[in-house]
Amino acid sequence: MNKKYHLIIFGCQMNYSDSERLASVLEELGYTKTDIEENADLIAIISCSVKQSAVDRIYSKLRNWQIIKEKKPLITILSGCVLDEDRRKLKDKFDLFIDIKKLDNLAADIKKINPKEKLALPSFFNIKPNYKSKYRAYVPIMTGCNKFCSYCAVPYTRGREISRSSNEIIKEIKELLNNGYKEIILLGQNVNSYGLDKKNEIKFPELLKTIDELNNDNWWLKFTTSHPYDLSEDLIKIMKDGRHINKYLHLPVQSGSGKLLKKMNRHYNIKEYKELINKIYKEIPEIAISTDIITGFCGETEKQYKETEELLEDLKFNLAYISQYSERSGTMAHKLYEDDIPKKVKKERWYLLNEVIKKNSLEFNNKLLNKECTVLIDSIKKENNKYNNIGKLSNYISIYIEDNKKLEIGKFYKVKITESKSWGVKGKLVK
Ligand code: SAM
Ligand code: SF4
Ligand code: F3S
Repeated sequence: MNKKYHLIIFGCQMNYSDSERLASVLEELGYTKTDIEENADLIAIISCSVKQSAVDRIYSKLRNWQIIKEKKPLITILSGCVLDEDRRKLKDKFDLFIDIKKLDNLAADIKKINPKEKLALPSFFNIKPNYKSKYRAYVPIMTGCNKFCSYCAVPYTRGREISRSSNEIIKEIKELLNNGYKEIILLGQNVNSYGLDKKNEIKFPELLKTIDELNNDNWWLKFTTSHPYDLSEDLIKIMKDGRHINKYLHLPVQSGSGKLLKKMNRHYNIKEYKELINKIYKEIPEIAISTDIITGFCGETEKQYKETEELLEDLKFNLAYISQYSERSGTMAHKLYEDDIPKKVKKERWYLLNEVIKKNSLEFNNKLLNKECTVLIDSIKKENNKYNNIGKLSNYISIYIEDNKKLEIGKFYKVKITESKSWGVKGKLVK
């Protein structure tokens, strides 16, 4: 019988990347992928715990599956980032729980689906992933986090930092480049800590430089996320000189209030953050820097909120991921502070900050007018006998290229920017 699996992924690129390895194991077991949940014989949720909304979605899925299970056999798996409290409540509602902190138990865990199955798996990161894209690959370089920001679930769901061996990472990337991949994105909760947990391992700047020098073809190299506390001068220099490293940096600040940063346990103040940003702009003037912000963290006053708004205006971020604070059980903020900002206020502040980002983004995009840029094509729509070729510039800015010609997904093209909007830019092919 042709058994089918369906994966439901919540959360960040880390979960997407883990699910590519899980998919490859399920295919080894004889399952084939289906995009239709109702057709699946096995459904796995790769969950996120950063906000309560993702956990709530698990419960609504469980109700659907109960209905399917009444009609046919169905195996359900829970994995990804799950807090202890949710795991206790949810574990018995699933047939199998795969602990993301103990991924090397994957072979033993997955055998529980079918104890007769003969399955010899390499260690988790050595499993060949079933990459979803044929031109953009997410490559995990480490997992876990030691930073313990007071609001964040990740150190509890993913455990302490563990770096992959640089040899393994380089081998995976060499193979991707040989297979024509055009964009490599290195993943870790704080890539700047790469290698610090191992005795004889290179550190992040050296790893990035080594990867950048792997070959001379045309490809892009990005990484995420960098914690502002330990972004080194070496790293700035390597970004500046790199041939393939994109002039793009994600540097979450979380708040513009020094007092809140302390409560968040972020280990830097606003003066230090601004100095760091200015140093980066001085070395790499064309860089695009994006950030993360949390609105309505415990006790956030109107004045403290305004400090965040001013910071976003001052530093001109053109992209920011803004979240409304969601209390996570077991974190320091849960233990020490009251989640006292009403939902309505969190939402209002979220909305206002997004407006600032839209304004910054338009200003940033205006400066691109008439410039020639490289674009990587992601999707194509046909409208009125013309093709809307949609892609990204190397700094994540979205671009539309209307043309009589259908471009190729996963290929680079040279374009001239003809129009700027707050959501991105429009461009024309340079013939
Ligand atoms: N490691 C990255 C860093 O240092 O900033 C961020 C990783 S975290 C999984 C992604 C983002 O989720 C954070 O930057 C933060 O803005 C947001 N986040 C984390 N915990 C949150 C919470 N309890 N409520 C709302 N947003 C949260
Ligand atoms: Fe969470 Fe902070 Fe670690 Fe980022 S650095 S994953 S926000 S604890
Ligand atoms: Fe990512 Fe959510 Fe886990 S943001 S690391 S999937 S808690």
